Amino acid sequence: MSDITIRPLEKDEYNAALNLVLHVFMRFQSDSFTPEGVDTFRRFVDPVHMLPLIECGIMFFRGAFDEGRLVGVIATRGFPHISLLFVNPSDHCRGIATLLVQDIVSIAKEKAFTAVSVNASSYAIPFYRRLGFVSLDTEKVENGIRFTPMTLNIG
Ligand SMILES: CC(C)(COP(=O)(O)OP(=O)(O)OC[C@H]1O[C@@H](n2cnc3c(N)ncnc32)[C@H](O)[C@@H]1OP(=O)(O)O)[C@@H](O)C(=O)NCCC(=O)NCCS
Repeated sequence: MSDITIRPLEKDEYNAALNLVLHVFMRFQSDSFTPEGVDTFRRFVDPVHMLPLIECGIMFFRGAFDEGRLVGVIATRGFPHISLLFVNPSDHCRGIATLLVQDIVSIAKEKAFTAVSVNASSYAIPFYRRLGFVSLDTEKVENGIRFTPMTLNIG
């Protein structure tokens, strides 16, 4: 694998990051959501809604870059809850999402958190299990969005 850099996004990279998120969502997750859920997600990642959340520090984004090309995005909401994790389809299974989660885990450890949580999509559950996340509950559907609450103990 070539060198992947994980770093905060620059202001002018947020639109590209949100495009990547929406593109990967439509390809891999939208089928398991109701039309209401797809609409809820689209509105959530619309720059008009998201950019103010980033500016006031509610959402915290990091990107994975391969020779300057954005290949993956992770975002937390109410740190350290993983709210978004999306990797460019042609870069799947290169260990990029693992690096992005490990990066959040190491920041969470520095800040003395003892767990990292996520509402996992059904598609991503096997991925999170591989990293040691465990389910906290059965699958839920809220506003048409299907997810399983999971947590990783880092204490
Ligand atoms: C889930 C996702 C983020 C994983 O990204 P990735 O960069 O391909 O993951 P990694 O390469 O770090 O995978 C780590 C391990 O998990 C495995 N894995 C990854 N996705 C998997 C999946 N959907 N099902 C089963 N195993 C999976 C990989 O094979 C790898 O196994 P290995 O360590 O034995 O090689 C990516 O598939 C994606 O963007 N999916 C669509 C969006 C999504 O569902 N996001 C999660 C929202 S909560």
